[in-house]
Amino acid sequence: MANKVQARLDELRRLIRRHDHLYHVLDAPEIADAEYDALFDELVALERKHPGRVTDDSPTQRVGGTPLPEFAAVTHEVAMLSLEKVATAAELAEWHGRCLGRLQDETDEALAFCCEPKIDGVAVALIYADGRLALAATRGDGRTGEDITANVRTLPSVPLRLQGDRAPPRFEVRGEIYISKQDFEAFNERAKAAGERTLVNPRNGAAGSLRQLDPKVTASRPLKMYCYGLGWVEGSWRPQTQMEALQRLAAWGLRTNPEAKLVKDLAACQAYLNDIEQRRNVLAYDIDGVVVKVNSLDQQRRLGAVTRRPRWAVAYKYPAEEAATRVLEVEFQVGRTGAITPVAKLAPVFVGGVTVSNASLHNMGEIQRLGLRLGDLVRVRRAGDVIPQILSVINGGTGSEDIALPSQCPACGSPVLLPEGEAVARCGAAATLCPAQRKEGLQHYASRLAMDIEGLGQKLIDQLVETGMVKTPADLYRLDAEALAALPRMGEKSAHNLLQALSASQSTSLARFIYALGIREVGEATAQNLANHFGDLAPLRNASAEELEVVTDVGPIVAAKLADYFNNPDNRALLDDLIAEGVHWPPEQAQVAAMPLAGQTWVLTGTLEEMPRTEAKQKLVGLGAKVAGSVSKKTTRVLAGSDAGSKLAKAQELGVPVMDEAAFLELLRAKDAS
Ligand code: IVH
Repeated sequence: MANKVQARLDELRRLIRRHDHLYHVLDAPEIADAEYDALFDELVALERKHPGRVTDDSPTQRVGGTPLPEFAAVTHEVAMLSLEKVATAAELAEWHGRCLGRLQDETDEALAFCCEPKIDGVAVALIYADGRLALAATRGDGRTGEDITANVRTLPSVPLRLQGDRAPPRFEVRGEIYISKQDFEAFNERAKAAGERTLVNPRNGAAGSLRQLDPKVTASRPLKMYCYGLGWVEGSWRPQTQMEALQRLAAWGLRTNPEAKLVKDLAACQAYLNDIEQRRNVLAYDIDGVVVKVNSLDQQRRLGAVTRRPRWAVAYKYPAEEAATRVLEVEFQVGRTGAITPVAKLAPVFVGGVTVSNASLHNMGEIQRLGLRLGDLVRVRRAGDVIPQILSVINGGTGSEDIALPSQCPACGSPVLLPEGEAVARCGAAATLCPAQRKEGLQHYASRLAMDIEGLGQKLIDQLVETGMVKTPADLYRLDAEALAALPRMGEKSAHNLLQALSASQSTSLARFIYALGIREVGEATAQNLANHFGDLAPLRNASAEELEVVTDVGPIVAAKLADYFNNPDNRALLDDLIAEGVHWPPEQAQVAAMPLAGQTWVLTGTLEEMPRTEAKQKLVGLGAKVAGSVSKKTTRVLAGSDAGSKLAKAQELGVPVMDEAAFLELLRAKDAS
């Protein structure tokens, strides 16, 4: 009986692995999804009955365990290098010449290459031990990366167990993890509909997905991996060529790019580059070029590497893709701070693998710079990001109509202001009175780095503002389940989830809260600095511009924006309202402001009896003082031990107060006691 169970478990796992490989690696499924699901369900059921027989490499175990607190560091045994870049046929020929030159001891040695697309994703190293996936790490700085094994285990195209039995006992394989163009668009489509976060572009999406502490999140992202080479190999097997290495990787069930080709010489290499460039648009993934590698591993070894790059490979980079299309219309969008941004509506055009129909024009100055008129034919470029840019006007601005800044805000009808000498036009209404500013402000408030309110996406915010249910962020906490559930596309379950997310978001940090307010010029870093400095909201909201300027990275402009914000009675009312609605944070240790010696600069001189100077220095810094090396007018106090020399004299000359060791120890005791 036990043997029969084990035999069925083995059989199911073997079948599921085979079908995973056919589907996710070879892209050639042999059975219908329903049949696959039936096998999988049977395995899950059987393992549930016999939990002692669950193995780590069972197909059911891709997502396991609890989220990690952080990623462990991994040192790469063989550094993960980067590549020299070339951009023209001439540069490629030069590189080819240099390779030949270095190998010329064997004169008419052939120099063949292995070419493959350079995918715009994330470089990853996998270690397989005894045929099982043992470790996955990011490239990091090339020497040290992060252990992302739990996340990489969730990728269906990464086998947990290799096929066949001829893989080396231990080896490291390298490759690129990426999101295909189609998966990217489908993912964002779904996320948008569900009010969830969208990914900025496929590359960021892949990188962000791999850096999730909870593998379940990674598992929900459409990541794929192509393996392109070996890091190191234990055991006796060594490939002769790059192509052989790829073939072996594929034979063990790893996914390799079918576009990888052996090319016999420079001319064939150039032909490959042209071919891929032509088909770039129809490849399933974003690429930024082609990697050309010397095929013979012996030649690779002889060519060696310079500091961070191998001599035996280059990245041939294609220029960013461009296309021509017409500007049909210019729409003016109102942002969170009232800034009015012109957006060009384009005749849809296929560029960089996606259809684009919008391009940001930034501000009116940009329209003037381009000399753009409605109906103009323009050149657009999509460089990595999804929003393309208009590069230039092709027909010399002979379009039908001038593009004028509207005199009234398109969202609320208030007058549009364009102060003399400023590039950005703004809606003249207060943020709370203009629905567009309100929507954008709420979106920012709910965003991930701010209050992180799961499920409160753009569409829902639009509905909440348009129905008048929400005007300010504080209104969010007053929403009731019934009214929410009655909104189109909501229902009881989503309403309940949203209320839960809102309630979870009330417990936050001061830095997030400051950032969430959306004060102009106050990004996450500034918000964090403000939180560190002031420790709580009360001292921050009452600080003068001068007091604000003391904070790291806060200059006069940011200080003025902050003071403006906190002096505005509407904003002060909003802060009170939010706190009354239960938004709270743990008291932060104000790092400096609350410290007894904040703002003071001390200088140490002479020999102390009771403690080494370094310790005295630490104590001072611990109390919030700065310790400087020389005395100036800015010095608050000089601590003078015995045999003090020129610094003491200088202090006396400038009239800087001097403290002796006994008084200093007294000060420390007093501060300790307080
Ligand atoms: S081979 C010695 N092949 O490009 C370096 N790299 O600059 C060997 N990349 O982040 C790298 N596709 O992850 C190689 N087919 C490919 C690649 C590829 C993308 C990335 C790689 C690394 C960067 C190297």
